[in-house]
Amino acid sequence: MEGNLSLLTVPDKLNIAIFASGNGSNFRAIHEAISGGKIRNAQIALVISNNSDAGALEIARGFKIPAVHISRTQYKSDDEFNATLIGALAKHHINFIALAGYMKKIDVSVVGAFRNRIVNIHPALLPKFGGEGMYGMKVHEAVIAAKEKLSGATVHIVDDQYDHGMIVLQKTVAVEPTDTAETLAARVLNIEHEIYPEAIHLFAEGNIKIIDQKLIINNV
Ligand code: GAR
Repeated sequence: MEGNLSLLTVPDKLNIAIFASGNGSNFRAIHEAISGGKIRNAQIALVISNNSDAGALEIARGFKIPAVHISRTQYKSDDEFNATLIGALAKHHINFIALAGYMKKIDVSVVGAFRNRIVNIHPALLPKFGGEGMYGMKVHEAVIAAKEKLSGATVHIVDDQYDHGMIVLQKTVAVEPTDTAETLAARVLNIEHEIYPEAIHLFAEGNIKIIDQKLIINNV
């Protein structure tokens, strides 16, 4: 008897919303993989940022992708803010969310509405160097301070705890003795640009299954 199996992908196309707070280089890498035909069955239909100055919004406008600034500071309550996010996702018929340098926690109401359909990229080898306050350069500073020999990037499913959900893909990079947080961040970012499109490709092709809370990648 097979366990509680859920196929994560929709039958037709992934209609993706990107959430980004910063430069948007991961968003750009995903966009390039889609437009270059490396990811089929997917399109980016919306970009949301909590930061009106985010490079990601600018890139999206250049690509003529709907781009919206939605920040908690614009709303009176968490409920109003989260309802606005969910409303924007519904308006654009989003069925998959990719967090690409989004520095805010996703509320349980959004996680619940998109259960197992939100992914995140983290610039370290989770479960190490994750959790609240571990983002961006802080992660690389902590890796160097801990004298780790290896770091890397992780794509994982978003659940209601920071950097905690099931891991989809990871790739390592060596930490060199001469590395600063900046040099390490740059090498990890290159790896991110490889594995994030690869992970989304797996979802778009229907090659990710979750059985009894374990993530399984089909042999392809
Ligand atoms: C990336 O390194 C991403 O892994 C990290 O922010 C950077 C965003 O770069 N995300 C986190 O630290 C989340 N915990 P980008 O805006 O150029 O894609």
